[in-house]
Amino acid sequence: MQVFTTIKDLNSALRVLIKMGKTIGFVPTMGALHQGHISLINYSKEQCDVTVCSIFVNPTQFNNPEDLDKYPKTPENDKLLLEKAGCDFLYTPSVEDIYPEKDNRKFDFGFLDTVLEGVLRPGHFNGVGQVVSILLEHVAPNKAFFGSKDYQQVMVVKELVKQLNLPVEIISCPILREFDGLAMSSRNIRLNDQERIIASLIPKIMLKASIIVKTQGINESKQFVEEITSKITDMKLDYFEVCDSSSLVILDFYEKTTPTILLIALFVGKIRLIDNLVIE
Ligand code: PAJ
Repeated sequence: MQVFTTIKDLNSALRVLIKMGKTIGFVPTMGALHQGHISLINYSKEQCDVTVCSIFVNPTQFNNPEDLDKYPKTPENDKLLLEKAGCDFLYTPSVEDIYPEKDNRKFDFGFLDTVLEGVLRPGHFNGVGQVVSILLEHVAPNKAFFGSKDYQQVMVVKELVKQLNLPVEIISCPILREFDGLAMSSRNIRLNDQERIIASLIPKIMLKASIIVKTQGINESKQFVEEITSKITDMKLDYFEVCDSSSLVILDFYEKTTPTILLIALFVGKIRLIDNLVIE
């Protein structure tokens, strides 16, 4: 695997490959890699000739400075995992490379910015829009791979690409989970042993909630999630919503014909976790 720290070096390497007619797959990340990230590398390797992974902890998408400070960094392990997965290029730009000057762009993601993460993390998606548009410009991939764990993020990125008319296909990939169902996340390593056990209840709560949606209704499932999360020590619900998975419009009533997704954000101790479940 070749490692590039500057846009100039990355570009000259990529230009050669593009001239040879190779297709480029891109997996943007913020590091602290786990098998969830690696599954995206695998999808890219299956679908493209050359796979580029970026590691950049993007300051503009953190609305909580403590979260940015405490964002885990495991550069050596990241490199090992990527090498093992057969990633071709690793791009690790500096803040100056990505933002040579302050990025004042304000995106309008419309409705997407007014629900769920958009409301609770003001400015977050604008920061994601800034960094993803810059990275897509630097790498110029044919396809870029994103995890559906961050369901709303994928929708925002698709909207971004549409608005900027970028020639890239955005591929949404399934959530990779731990042995006990907890969605893999770079934040999981910040959970202590007790919190980790509590966090493993999230996918179970989501499964039960999805059954309640289908058998009793959306209000009943909301009541269930609110009640159960309030009873579990160290768990604090941020939101639980049942939405149309094609638009993220919040649903009041379940209909089999509407593509439906359950989305949750909650704190376990001080760690904020998100998860979602599509109703088949
Ligand atoms: P990060 O949290 O590092 O995630 C990088 C990519 O990995 C995202 O597309 C995310 O959805 C995906 N991912 C994380 N956990 C996953 C899991 N358990 N299964 C499958 N995919 C998973 O998301 C970001 O970084 C940033 O916002 C970024 C897009 C890089 C912009 O800064």
